[in-house]
Order: sequence, then structure tokens, then C-alpha cells
Amino acid sequence: MTQQDKRPVQYLADYRPYPFTLSETRLDITLAPTGTRVRAEIDMQPKDARNAADLMLDGGAGLRLGSLTIDGAAPDPAFVRREGEVLTIGAAALPRTAFTLATEVEIDPEANTAFEGLYLSNGIFCTQCEAEGFRHITFYPDRPDVMTTFRVTLRSDLPVLLSNGNPVASGAGWAEWHDPWPKPCYLFALVAGELVAVRGSFTTRSGREVALNVWVRPGDEDRADFALVSLIKSMRWDEEVYGREYDLEVFNIVTVDDFNMGAMENKGLNIFNSKLVLASPETATDADYERIEAVIAHEYFHNWTGNRITCRDWFQLCLKEGLTVFRDQQFTSDMRSAAVKRIEDVQVLRARQFREDQGPLAHPPRPDRFEEINNFYTATVYEKGAEVIGMLKRLVGDEGYARALDLYFARHDGDAATIEDWLKVFEDATGRDLGQFKRWYTDAGTPVVTMTEEWQDGTLALHLRQETPPTPGQPDKPARVIPLAMGLIGPNGDEVLPTTVLELTEPRQSFRFEALGARPVVSMLRGFSAPVMLRRQLDDSARAFLLAHDTDAFARWDAGRDLALSALAAGASGEAGAGGAYVAAIGRLLADEGIDAAFRALCLQLPSEEEVATHLHADRTVPDPAAIHAAREALARDLAEAHEPVLAEIYTRLRSEGPYSPGATASADRALRLAALHLLSRIDGGERAEILFGTAGNMTERMGALAALVRLGRAERALAAMRDEFGSNRLVMDKWFSVQVMAAPPETAVAIARELAARPDFDWKNPNRFRALMGALAANHPAFHAADGSGYDFTADWLMRMDPVNPQIAARMSSAFETWVRYDADRRARARQALERIAALESLSRNSSEMVSRMIA
Ligand code: PHE
Ligand code: ZN
Repeated sequence: MTQQDKRPVQYLADYRPYPFTLSETRLDITLAPTGTRVRAEIDMQPKDARNAADLMLDGGAGLRLGSLTIDGAAPDPAFVRREGEVLTIGAAALPRTAFTLATEVEIDPEANTAFEGLYLSNGIFCTQCEAEGFRHITFYPDRPDVMTTFRVTLRSDLPVLLSNGNPVASGAGWAEWHDPWPKPCYLFALVAGELVAVRGSFTTRSGREVALNVWVRPGDEDRADFALVSLIKSMRWDEEVYGREYDLEVFNIVTVDDFNMGAMENKGLNIFNSKLVLASPETATDADYERIEAVIAHEYFHNWTGNRITCRDWFQLCLKEGLTVFRDQQFTSDMRSAAVKRIEDVQVLRARQFREDQGPLAHPPRPDRFEEINNFYTATVYEKGAEVIGMLKRLVGDEGYARALDLYFARHDGDAATIEDWLKVFEDATGRDLGQFKRWYTDAGTPVVTMTEEWQDGTLALHLRQETPPTPGQPDKPARVIPLAMGLIGPNGDEVLPTTVLELTEPRQSFRFEALGARPVVSMLRGFSAPVMLRRQLDDSARAFLLAHDTDAFARWDAGRDLALSALAAGASGEAGAGGAYVAAIGRLLADEGIDAAFRALCLQLPSEEEVATHLHADRTVPDPAAIHAAREALARDLAEAHEPVLAEIYTRLRSEGPYSPGATASADRALRLAALHLLSRIDGGERAEILFGTAGNMTERMGALAALVRLGRAERALAAMRDEFGSNRLVMDKWFSVQVMAAPPETAVAIARELAARPDFDWKNPNRFRALMGALAANHPAFHAADGSGYDFTADWLMRMDPVNPQIAARMSSAFETWVRYDADRRARARQALERIAALESLSRNSSEMVSRMIA
């Protein structure tokens, strides 16, 4: 273990304010690939002149300290100590009033393969400082509650030199930037390189003109328009819906190829993974377009929720992330279809967050301990964090929510805030006590709500019970407040009770509905009003009834989902022909031209195998990956055989015509068409897919066709054609790597992954390429969990290779193992062996060490 890795566990309870106030930070940076010089001047003042505190600055091992002065003079070396990642200057060596600390360090961006701090990506200098990257650039109090304005001078011969805030002045080889908004250092950024801008502008509602630039490498200009248009839409939406205006003269977005995450909200200078900016119909799919629009919005929205109001400490991460995800979800609902967006978001939540909650990595949206904060950028913090806000909005109503948000912005602008602050504005704005609600932030685990019904003399009683299974460190789970949106549908299909919200606050509670003529069917958890698992006794015919008649789009889709899951669960346990009710219900849905294409497409997608496994585990059944796979294949085939004529008709009729548009309507047609193709390819030998791959004019259909061919093991020609056409396009080649493993039949997937990993263009140090391959294997459920352990071993080998190069990426990918405990003893033994091999690695990073030890605890 290196020094850096020795940092102990951090606890929320140990929070102490920083004993100094900062009033300005000035940076003067001379860029060079292996020896960048960083001069920093920090104006600071002790908060308490009588009780002098030591000055502690964070600084990574890679900082080569040249000079250090206080008000121009070097302090007595006896009072300066550098230990691990901390530089301490004893209180005795510090003035009691305002002073300026100046340091000069040298760093090596070229050697930075972890992509944290200052690094080079294809000749472009760029930075990533969230969460704790700034300490690899200079000595600094690297914590989000220390905020100040920044003045930055960059020196380099490269033509484009960018930093946060507004441009002040520039000349040959230098540029100066000033950010007037106090910010924590995790929002600092600089970029230098040969870049070109796709330019636009936006006039704020108070009439200020903002210059917008999307910076890309020369040659990529024609793929940046969609991002620019998305940015303009986001800026307008945040003004209209939240009353939030942009606050600088310029907004810059830069794309880089090497990036650990999706994108980063640095003040006025967002940095994006190029896959979340660059798009053309020939290279990007509909899903890519939708994601680009959402992430551009997400990063832009952070300007208020994250930057103007930031987090007091990293335990509060979901304060900015949950809220910003919630806001980007609202934005997408407004830009596209609210019903479709809700269903997509729930699919993601169930696939990723429920799975996280079921295993050894479960944690609350606001964790209270961590070793490495980068391990907590999770589905729980992001997606569940957003669900919690959705519940809050439902409980206080739309108007209450609007009032609370106005108060939040008014009260906390300029603050580094906490979840307590956030809840308090809701209490103050609405008068509601949120004491019990807070458990959603502090408790891990997915509550299971069990519902039974009792019908007598025109009265329907609903008996509800809530239980949350134990999670690591939290054996007992008190009851939470759970908003359950529900309605009642009469036997003739009419709604007899429109959407009503039941508030479950006790472990057990009953609700009565009186004076009902005939027994209605209960439509429960409308709009997925709470992130819970609902257990109820409902037979297939009632589910089919809801799929046909529910007025709530989510609940309607979910009824179909339930039918599919029960068919798959039965199929996986060896029951033959279990899918009859589901197949028949889908037939009625397909024939109904009154139902929009997007909804039918969603209903045609079978639950993923991962989702089936999560469902079985929640029912205390050990999932058998091979049996689940076989059951899903069989059900797909049953659907295709039963509905071939209508599927073929849909496939032919929805042929793309005219120019490509990434909008909701056109992409819904493509989604339905491809869903039909995937089913048909089960019985046409892949003929349609082969033709579509050769003729489609857009990447959405080409990838859809290619996935079908890969699944059938007849993609060789198509793959070669794609490689010939797009060999030099990284983003398309990432798809090429990914699809071959993700869609491969389970028996061949690991071998294919191994072959691909040996290719010279498997540039594994690039996070996108690494994820394309390793993430695809993790997503191929029966292959990753292959009975012989080959999926585990292959993954572990690569994690061990990646860890010393880029610990964040290795640690993140290790979550592929997070479900290992739910499988059979044989698989568990093999998975544990793989994890123990990683754990035994000498000088394993703090990132991976924390992940692996939580998983084998
Ligand atoms: N804060 C970024 C976002 O959610 C994510 C991120 C975290 C990026 C850490 C880089 C590093 O928008
Ligand atoms: Zn974010």
C-alpha cells in the first residue's frame, strides 16, 4: 500500500468546518506534457484569531513542491510537515490575520493514466477535479465547503486555452480567466488544445447575451450540433420551469476521448466524454441522442443545483446529484414523452439500483462512511436520490414543491448545504414534518410492500405491510413513509376511483373503499410512486385486464411486465408453456392501433435476464443463469410464432423513410420496428436482420440488426463491414466491441471477449473501450456467471491489470460482482476466489480495496 492508500475511513459524524476562510485563489499554470508548473496564491484568513489552528492542505504524492511562502517569506521548516496526502503548516508559523499562501509545484500530466487531476487526452490538456482531483494539481483545502473566487492564467503554445468563468485577457501563448462566483475547487477546470468551436448564443430572460461554444477536435464539427441545440433547450427550460438563469458571459463545453465518467459540471466549462456530445445519424443511435440531450441538460442544471448551491461534504453528494437527475428527468419528460420516460427510468432503477440494494454494496442515498468517495457515484446516490425527490414532490404537491425550491435557491444560494438544509426548506415552505421521511436518505435497502385485498358487501379493504430487508450495517429497518398512488378500475374497464395517494407510515396499515358496486381491480403503485417492490396476489387474468384497461401508463406497462416476469420465473423453474397469458395479452396489444408505438415497443421488450434474477432473489429463489436464459429465449420464440403476421406487418410498415430525425415520434417507430425484428429473427433465421444491416441509413437500425445477427452467431460479414467502414471512429468501434460480447450466445461470449481483448485496437486504457468490452460481458448475464467461472476469472484478470493504471475504472467495474452472493454454492465459490485474487494484489488501490472488501465481508 502506498501512503495515499492509508487514509482511514471517513465518517459523516466527524465533520468539522475548515478553520480558515478563503477570499481568492490565483493560479498561474505553465503547461508542458511532463513538467507543468503550477503557481498558486491563496488569500486566506483564520476564522478564529484567538484559537490558532494548523493549516492543513491536501496534496497528492505526485506534486513536486518547489517553493512555499507565507506573505512572501518561507516559513520555518520546523513547522512544515508533509505526510501522505497532507501538508501541514503549524499554527505557530501563521499570521493571525489575513495572509497569502503561495506555492509552486511541478506535475506530470503525461504520466497521469488515472485521469484525475490534470492529464492529457490525445494531445488535449484537461482536468477532472471531482471529487478529490484538485489535490493532484496543487496544495489546497480540497473539500467542497471551502469556496472562493478563482483567477487563472494559462500559459501554452496551444491555440485554445480555457478555464472557468469569463475570459479577461489573452495574448500569444497565454490567457487569463476570472470566475466571479465563489466555488469549491472540485469545480475548477482548465483545457488547452487544438480545438474548434461550434458556436451559438443564448439570450437570458433578463436580456443578457451568453456565448455558447461546443469545443471538439477538428473534423468533429459536424457532429456537435445536436449537443448545442440541447444546451439551448436546457437553458430555456431551467428559466421557464425553475426560474433559474445562467450567470456568466460564456458557457463552454469541451469533448475529450479519455474520461472516467459521463461528463462534469465545472463552472462555465463543462467537460464531456465525447460519446455524450458527438452524434450523427450514421454513427449514433436513438438511445445515444436521448442520452446526449439528457446529460447536456444534467450538467447545465448543475449550475444551480451543485454549483451555486454545492455540498457541505461528500456524504451529501445526493443533494446535488439526486436533485439534478430529478431535474434532467423532468426535462426529458417535457421534451419527449413523460410516460415513456417514466417507464425507462424505472427500468434503469430496477436493473441497477434494486440490484445494488440487494447485495453487499447496498448503502443509503446519503452514506455515513466511506473510504473512497469515488466508489459512491452509484445508482443509489443518483437514481434513488432522484426517486426520493419525486416522492417528496408527490407528498407536498406540485405547488408545495415549487415553493420549497424557490426557498431553497433563495436561502442557500452561495452555500455548501446538507440534506438537513434541503429537508428544512420543505418543512418551512409546506409545514409538513419530514422526520420520518428522512429515513429515505439515511436507510439503505428496497422496502417490500405486500398487499392483500378483502372484498365484502361493496367494501374493498387493502391490507398493506412494509418490510425492508437488512443491509450491511443496518440490521433493523423502521417503517418509512411510502406514498402509494393507486386507482380502481371497474369490471367493465372504467375507472371508478381516479388516482389517489395512500400514505403508508406504519409497518402494517389498512385502507377501505366503500360503496362500490362491483369488485374493482386495484391499480397500484401508479407512476411508480415509490421505489419499492410490490408483492400482491394477482392472477394472470387480472394482470392482463390491467394491461388492457389501466389509465395510468406506467401501471399499465408494469402489469405486462409482471405477466412476463411470472412467465419467465415459471419457465426458469422448468414449467413448460408458462407464457400463455402473456403471449395472448401481447397479441391484443399489438393489434390495437390506438396504442402509440412507443408504448407497444416498451411492452414488446422482455425483462432482462438480470431483472429476472433480481426478481427471483427477492422471492428467495436462487437464480440459475442458464435456465433464465433458456426461458427468455423460449418466450421470445413463443411470441414470434404466435404473432408472426402482425409483427411482420409492423416491421414492413415502419420502414424508415425520409431524413432521419432523433425526435420522440420517429425513434418510437424505430423502437417498435426493431422490437418486432428481434422477435422475428428468432424464426426467420436472421434474414430480415441481414437485409436491414446492409440497407439501413442510420446507426439505430444497423445496431439493432447487428445485435440480432450476433445473437444468431451469423454476424461475421456484418462485423467486418462495420469495421471497414468505421475502423477509425472510436465511438462506433466501441459499439462494435460491445455488441459482440453483449449479444453473444452465452457459450461463446467469454471466448469472444478474450479474442477481442487481444486485438491491437483494444485500447484498454481508454475508459470507453474498456467499458465497452468488460461492461458488455458483465451485462451478458449467463456468460458473466458461466458455471465454469470463466466469466469471473476473465473479469478479475482485467481488473487487476487496470487497477494500477486507473483505479477508479477498475473499482467501478468490480461492481459486476456485486450480486455474487445470490447464486448457487458452486458459483459463489468461484466468484469469491476471483475476488480474493484481486484482494491479494500487492498495492491494490484504495478504490478497489474498499470495493472488494465490502463484497467479501
Ligand atoms: N458530477 C458529475 C455528474 O454527475 C459526475 C462525475 C463525478 C464526473 C466524478 C467526474 C467525476 O454530472
Ligand atoms: Zn451530476
